[in-house]
Amino acid sequence: MEMNIALLPGDGIGPEVVAQAVKVVKAIGQKFGHQISFKEGLVGACAIDATGDPYPDATHEICASSDAVLFGAIGDPKYDNDPKAKVRPEQGLLRMRQKLGLFANVRPTFTFPSLVHKSPLKLDRVDGVDLVFFRELTGGVYFGEPRGRNEQGTKAFDTNVYSKEEIIRLARMGFEAAQKRRKLLTCVDKANVMATSRLWRETVQELAPEYPDVKVEYEFVDAVAMRLIQWPKAYDVLITENLFGDILTDEASVISGSMGLMPSASLGSKVKLFEPIHGSYPQAAGKDIANPLGTVLSAAMLFDYGFGLTEEAKLISDVVNLSLAEGYVTEDIADGGKAYKTSEVGDWLAAKILA
Ligand code: IPM
Ligand code: MG
Repeated sequence: MEMNIALLPGDGIGPEVVAQAVKVVKAIGQKFGHQISFKEGLVGACAIDATGDPYPDATHEICASSDAVLFGAIGDPKYDNDPKAKVRPEQGLLRMRQKLGLFANVRPTFTFPSLVHKSPLKLDRVDGVDLVFFRELTGGVYFGEPRGRNEQGTKAFDTNVYSKEEIIRLARMGFEAAQKRRKLLTCVDKANVMATSRLWRETVQELAPEYPDVKVEYEFVDAVAMRLIQWPKAYDVLITENLFGDILTDEASVISGSMGLMPSASLGSKVKLFEPIHGSYPQAAGKDIANPLGTVLSAAMLFDYGFGLTEEAKLISDVVNLSLAEGYVTEDIADGGKAYKTSEVGDWLAAKILA
């Protein structure tokens, strides 16, 4: 198969982890006979430094004309503590999601047999967790207007807004995923307080009869925040709005034992985007110590969700599991054993694929 992949390494550890995923993708291409070409673009703080724009048109062109995008991380501390900054790296990510029409962010949480003891939660609660969030990604308070300050600058406001259409297209993806899994869908909202949440709940209730094989549960977001770490095995597919999904998916990632491990896929249009859920981890940038496995597993999702190549995806997750089992891992999960460099882990994974 011919595959055109846009690479957006971004900021901080992004370039290092993406480089390892590229090694893995190339090894898969070689093994399975795919012609894979890469084009690289700037996004985030590095794009602001180079062009003044966190998502330059040139980068959008590269993404829009590819089959899939592999993205690293975004963010730089020099902007985090400057609330008055006019341009921010994160705006690049948000514009990219919006311009590419990536309205659904699929964030799985699962455990790795050889790592499950690293979870800060009790083993019997987390062993075998397998849940997936479908987070709405291009609506809600992230994009709603009006937003800003009053003239004196003493009041600030954001707007949370959802149309029925936005809810339906996200919810349908959740229902369809549930049908292929354990057939349980949880709609996460704050319908006891928010009008947008009541529209979510009403809309999902209307759709439910079309999916009679799926059991639907409705839960308030604060209760989910609690139950998710208490009884994570109670969940299968969760659908939720943008902000709730942002918060809960960070929470869920701890279940697996390290945030560096979890991949994600952003879907909704012809071009799909794949990225680890961790941030740019600026303290580790350039040190060759960051865990590349979340990005490597995002590359596995790229083969699966992006191209329907399940065998290729499975081989990637198999070699990742092997690296965990054999302790060929970076320092964050080395657990007192030998820690390998980011680049060494990438080389090892690629070699195992070709072995
Ligand atoms: C995420 C991140 C982004 C978000 C930030 C970097 C804008 O936290 O992908 O979850 O809030 O969506
Ligand atoms: Mg987040």
